[in-house]
Amino acid sequence: MDCLFVGAGAIASEYASGLESTSLSLAGVCDIDGERAKNLAAENDSPWFTDLETALSTVDAPIVVNLTTHAAHAEVTRTALAADRHVYSQKPLALDGETAGQLLSMARERNLALGVAPENPQGPSQRRAARVLADGRPGPVQLGYAHAHVGRVTDWHDRPDSFLEIGPLYDGGVYPLTLLVSWFGPVETVRVADTLDSWPEREQRRPSAPSHIEAMLAFESGPTVRLTASFYAPHRSREFYGLELHGDDGSLYLDGTGAMETAVDHVQFGRVGREYTTVPPQSPSSSIEYIDAVQRLADTVAAGAPSRESARRGAHVVAVCNAIEDAAANGGPVTVRDFGVARDPLPDQDVRPSVRDGQATDRDGIDLPPIGFGCSRYRDGEYVERRDSIATAMDAGYRLLDSAELYGNEHRIGELLSAPGAPDREAVFVLGKVWRTNHRREHMFEAATGSLAELGIDAFDCYALHWPEAWAHRGPLTRLAELPVERQEALTFPENDDGDIETDDISLETAWKNLEAIHDRGLSRTLGASNVTQPQLETILETGTVRPAIVQIERHPYQPRNDLVSFCHERGIRVVAHSPLSAPGLLDEPVLAEIGEQYDLSPAGVVIAWNVSRNVVAIPSSTTPAHIVSNLAAGTHRLSPDEIDRIDSLRDPGFER
Ligand SMILES: NC(=O)c1ccc[n+]([C@@H]2O[C@H](COP(=O)([O-])OP(=O)(O)OC[C@H]3O[C@@H](n4cnc5c(N)ncnc54)[C@H](OP(=O)(O)O)[C@@H]3O)[C@@H](O)[C@H]2O)c1
Repeated sequence: MDCLFVGAGAIASEYASGLESTSLSLAGVCDIDGERAKNLAAENDSPWFTDLETALSTVDAPIVVNLTTHAAHAEVTRTALAADRHVYSQKPLALDGETAGQLLSMARERNLALGVAPENPQGPSQRRAARVLADGRPGPVQLGYAHAHVGRVTDWHDRPDSFLEIGPLYDGGVYPLTLLVSWFGPVETVRVADTLDSWPEREQRRPSAPSHIEAMLAFESGPTVRLTASFYAPHRSREFYGLELHGDDGSLYLDGTGAMETAVDHVQFGRVGREYTTVPPQSPSSSIEYIDAVQRLADTVAAGAPSRESARRGAHVVAVCNAIEDAAANGGPVTVRDFGVARDPLPDQDVRPSVRDGQATDRDGIDLPPIGFGCSRYRDGEYVERRDSIATAMDAGYRLLDSAELYGNEHRIGELLSAPGAPDREAVFVLGKVWRTNHRREHMFEAATGSLAELGIDAFDCYALHWPEAWAHRGPLTRLAELPVERQEALTFPENDDGDIETDDISLETAWKNLEAIHDRGLSRTLGASNVTQPQLETILETGTVRPAIVQIERHPYQPRNDLVSFCHERGIRVVAHSPLSAPGLLDEPVLAEIGEQYDLSPAGVVIAWNVSRNVVAIPSSTTPAHIVSNLAAGTHRLSPDEIDRIDSLRDPGFER
């Protein structure tokens, strides 16, 4: 779709640079500064103009992209709408709510699309933060601090006049405002506001509007947010464009409400009583480009439903800015016109696990998060406390927890799942495993119901045989972690008089039938098998009624087990890789460091990415917070087939623990 760019300054070049990746083309450029118009037009092989009316009557482009100076936006938009053009405008839509409302009405009456920057609710870090909210983790948000430190425009902008004229609110302030309105809906009142004229004495060019503004905003849906917008606070300010939201159950921090790119530590969450933990991205995400918003608007035009949604929000944001100025001048509270703006639906968890029809029925299998967290206490021959690391993992955003009665800490996981700041139950995939001393039907039922009670949940998302072979039962395994180590081992590794393991005469076929009874009673949504070979899996598939949804096996580069992985995938069975990192010497393999260098990944991260690239869910365990976060973030990387082959070639057929 053809566009006419009006305004050919620095921001216009940013918009133009993204054109190639869109279906849009630049049909003309208009700027009152002919030299600028000519330069941008020349780069894009399009005609140029210095007069808007002439440009509109000469160029038949359906969309006008308004990239003029702040104060000129409204007039240019009005002229373009009057010429029946769809308009995408740089922020702000206008400098007063009344004018913004008129533009909105004009677009509505003519059935034209009207959009306004910023598009920051679509930014990758902003969407990641929105998902923390969607997950219900901070609980009801009552308080927020938003900063928009535009900095000394006379230092960093080659043409600061337009900024100095309008002040920091209508430029930087609209970033947090747009995001907050998208998340929480309209601002009801500006409770109080105040302004300062702070500016360095030595500086000749001074803002004509106040250089610093503080306001308390009450959102209709509940939160009260203190907004600071400043030209005086410089870019190096630690707060910059930071946003901190405090809820009943936890706090959310977003570093950069206006950021268009993403970084691992942009989003942090801290539940009540704990420090902030980084919430890394878990799937590949790319930066947003300025032109993306114009493309989205053009798509609504092409679909015959020209959108005015961002303009409605933009009009409300302008009304908030006006109300802040009013409250600063005349005292608050000042009621704000809402323009019918509503909060946007919060984005779906792109890692939200789901189970279809209770069992794996198609080739893709059940949806699982790309990476899970191992909750075993066992570590190099010792037992370690895992409560803190599991809490960190949940705060970082792990949504698959690998538990087992053998690990003896289900009650700890249960405490964390029910504590304030925990994700909603539906957002977490709880995988449980019955130990091999409990393969008889009555023992398995007792084990499953006991584990569920400890976890505080009604049903597992998957309940699996920990091992296919049965051992003798010596008693229930509830809260193993609280028993002396010798007692734990006597119960879990039953020995006969000769000191050998005492097995039990329960076939895999029978154990699976007993597991199916757990499923039939609604105690688990799916079933799984751990540590099975392909022939054992074939037995389950041939003799069972409920198909396994998950197979959990030891898998790492020394033992890739690609044949078994393919066998499972061909049958819609998801593979979970246990012990992905702990094979002795693995993390020192030079090939992992070499591949990791290009992606800025540690060797552990490369092993995790190697699993994700094969659609296998690794469940690394860690007690080091930085590892917990970086392991989860590794899920955003996909390795090339060549890199996967290089790692596969570490395979060691003689590998044994
Ligand atoms: N089904 C089964 O039979 C079975 C058997 C074994 C394990 N599992 C499951 O698999 C999970 C993981 O297996 P695992 O316990 O053997 O652990 P693992 O994940 O293979 O390895 C854990 C070790 O790797 C280190 N580590 C983790 N991230 C690292 C990083 N980014 N850089 C460097 N080192 C890192 C950890 O140290 P730090 O703590 O310092 O990070 C720890 O020493 C278990 O918790 C359990 O849930 C299942």
